Amino acid sequence: MVDEIGMQFLSSHGKTKSGNDVIFSWLARYQNAAAAGADAVNGTIGALLEDNGELAINTVVDSALREAPPVEFAAYAPLKGLPPFLDLAQTLALGEYRQSLETLGVNGMATASPGGSGALFLAASNFCERGEAILLRDRHWGPYAGFLKGCGLEMATYPLLPSNENTHYPMFDSEAFSTELERLATSQSTVMTWLNDPAHNPTGLSLPSESRYALLNLFMESATRHEDVGHTLLIDSAYHLYADEPHGWAETILEALENGLPWPENLLICFAVSLSKSHTIYGLRTGALVCIHPEEETLEKLREVMGVTGRQTWSAAPRVAQYVLSEMHASESGGASWSLERDRLANLLVERRETFVKACTELKVPVNPTHDGFFAWYECDDPVAVAEKCAEMHVYLVPLRGGVRIGLCAIPLHQIPKVAQALKSAHQ
Ligand SMILES: Cc1ncc(COP(=O)(O)O)c(C=O)c1O
Repeated sequence: MVDEIGMQFLSSHGKTKSGNDVIFSWLARYQNAAAAGADAVNGTIGALLEDNGELAINTVVDSALREAPPVEFAAYAPLKGLPPFLDLAQTLALGEYRQSLETLGVNGMATASPGGSGALFLAASNFCERGEAILLRDRHWGPYAGFLKGCGLEMATYPLLPSNENTHYPMFDSEAFSTELERLATSQSTVMTWLNDPAHNPTGLSLPSESRYALLNLFMESATRHEDVGHTLLIDSAYHLYADEPHGWAETILEALENGLPWPENLLICFAVSLSKSHTIYGLRTGALVCIHPEEETLEKLREVMGVTGRQTWSAAPRVAQYVLSEMHASESGGASWSLERDRLANLLVERRETFVKACTELKVPVNPTHDGFFAWYECDDPVAVAEKCAEMHVYLVPLRGGVRIGLCAIPLHQIPKVAQALKSAHQ
């Protein structure tokens, strides 16, 4: 169509940007059904809603924002971020393990970014040579593809779950991962893997500690064997503060170091931190890329590279939430009140997930393992047909590649059993 009508002003790479956006088209179908008076279920969107359908807002964050001085709204932030926020970002990424990691000589740096998306962009644009592939699980957040493409990168994948029962680690296909890792490490000059864990979008999967350890061990070993190949492990922690083990990755890294695993110089570990969900400030676009490494010179160079990348892309990240949240978490009572409210919101998810898994078990609907965060997942060969069948019962879900995403974050508790019934009718 674009070619037919000319559009000579669009570059060839601009013309390839198409296909927006399956989530919003299924949301529109829900909205139309609800407007027509149907008792419709909205399992489409990726924001946490209260049981009454309103956007869930962490009221402690909201009140703190409203008290911020005008200058904190109006002024630019420093290009790399406000220093207290950069410190907070590291604590949000590493939690109670930060101190012990530092004691073992592993320090961190952070660069503020517009949301977790900005942090992913910083990583995509700097840690992988153009034309090379980033290693992902085959089920992943759709926009990853666009970030990679925009930075001239390719994608390599391994299965989300092991295909046979004989695998060594729960919910981690160590064989497929290490085969792909070795292939990339022997054919590329950089290797980067992105892992949205815990509380994976779109499945809600969280890796247990033994699988985290196995993955880290394979990655560290690969870095040791291929000392000229940069190895970056990026943990996308967009939902980690709603998970049972929010800082499991920091714990696993610490455990590896305490067990004497050497940290190769060519290994970098990063966290793409997003405050969008954890602090319910989706629209304030606040996040950070946190990098940890034993060498201070490495961290210093990364500060420069990330600061310059941000400057050349979005200038500085928005200031007001950086200011407000670092003040809030610096005060013991502020942090405690935020976490009480976060617990209330997390509990909405826990109740919905437990109800969903129970209903699916009773109806023998084979949903994927789902542990934390906003979503659950029904793996299937024809996701559109399944979503259409569910829509016949006015249950609106999102068909993606390889399955259907169930937005537990958006579905009121009382409607959850109906979702399981709709999937059951699609499954037969
Ligand atoms: C897996 C994943 N990573 C990163 C993000 C980025 O979030 P934001 O840029 O809104 O902070 C999201 C948001 O939906 C996500 O689902």
